[in-house]
Amino acid sequence: MIIGIIGAGAMGSGIAQVASQAGHEVILCDLHNEVLESSKNKLSKVMTRLVEKEKFTSDQADQIQSRITRTTDINSLADCGLVVEAVVESMEVKNAVFSQLENIVSDDAILASNTSSLSITSISKSCRVSERVVGLHFFNPAPLMPLVEIIPALQTKDEIPATLLKLMKDWGKAPVIAKDTPGFIVNRVARPFYSEALRILDEGLADVNTIDESLKEKGFRMGPFELMDLIGHDVNYAVTASVFKSFYYDPRFKPSITQLKLVEADWLGRKSGRGFYKYEEDGSKSYFKVESENDIQYSIAERIIAMLINEAADAVFWNIASVEDIDTAMTKGVNYPKGLLQWADEWGVTKVINIIDSLKQHYGDSRYRVSPILREMARSGKKFRS
Ligand code: NAI
Repeated sequence: MIIGIIGAGAMGSGIAQVASQAGHEVILCDLHNEVLESSKNKLSKVMTRLVEKEKFTSDQADQIQSRITRTTDINSLADCGLVVEAVVESMEVKNAVFSQLENIVSDDAILASNTSSLSITSISKSCRVSERVVGLHFFNPAPLMPLVEIIPALQTKDEIPATLLKLMKDWGKAPVIAKDTPGFIVNRVARPFYSEALRILDEGLADVNTIDESLKEKGFRMGPFELMDLIGHDVNYAVTASVFKSFYYDPRFKPSITQLKLVEADWLGRKSGRGFYKYEEDGSKSYFKVESENDIQYSIAERIIAMLINEAADAVFWNIASVEDIDTAMTKGVNYPKGLLQWADEWGVTKVINIIDSLKQHYGDSRYRVSPILREMARSGKKFRS
């Protein structure tokens, strides 16, 4: 099957590499020749490195590169069996791309969007043959991150998720199925990692480095502030704001004014040399220190992990995905040290409930709501993963 990719930016280029490594002919389409040229050069550098590391022979590396054809003409996608759209995150642009595309490919070609935040159901609606449209959400960098979220729209034909599950496994990926709801799995369940850390900072309970270190001690590869600085505050804030709005302004997903200020100041993180940390030329980083005299009854890390577990449990409660898929999503998409529901089983749900109930009592804020599924499990003694 020939795979078409539209948009040769960070994501489209990565997905093209993955598909070609799996043996497919790939047609990569972008509006601009310079972008295609730059995508080609980057892949060539990556392949040189992978040959040095003996991941591929130089023959294999040549074949992977030669299987990708680059074009600015969308009509070249006519014979593709699957097209993955990875253009800019705008419903207007995506709708225009899909309506053009569906009159070029055959009616049984699968049309997938790599969107992180837009409704797949809404993208499908704009298509003439809407039942072949689906979400196929890769993580950055696509060649390295195993997770792929498959998101059927309301209209998607039943057999498409199963077809894509198999295809993604053949590509060496770890696919999961998620309901078409804001943030799908990862971008919904991960919100407290950032937002709870930001609240702890705003209250002056601890400084960024203390919070980061406390989570790294629990096995996270990066702390929330390091990670937000890496993702970029413009991107991270926009995702939070979009999830918040899509959930009808549920206080659980409320964005942080502190992070908004960083965006307004253009202190976007590593890419601007300054975010929560200031990045020096010599590679060191500094931060604003806080002397805290507060008596915290539970560790900072446990407060954040409890909120993450609650969010993951609530995703089970609302049938967003299966227990296994939610744990896979967080370990294979954002490198969490273990699945949050496995973590719940290890801690016992009573510990999570107690932490969140005490936050509720202290703040009186409805963002601290224990998911009903955790209370039910505490009553029944059931575990998520038996
Ligand atoms: P990007 O800005 O690096 O690349 C987008 C590319 O699409 C550009 O090269 C642009 O020239 C091209 N393009 C725009 N309109 C086009 C059209 N009509 N026809 C053909 N090409 C067109 O964006 P990036 O980061 O690769 O993101 C692409 C999509 O993937 C977005 O929907 C984004 O939300 C999603 N995504 C991004 C992730 C990330 O970490 N960057 C992670 C997962 C999903």
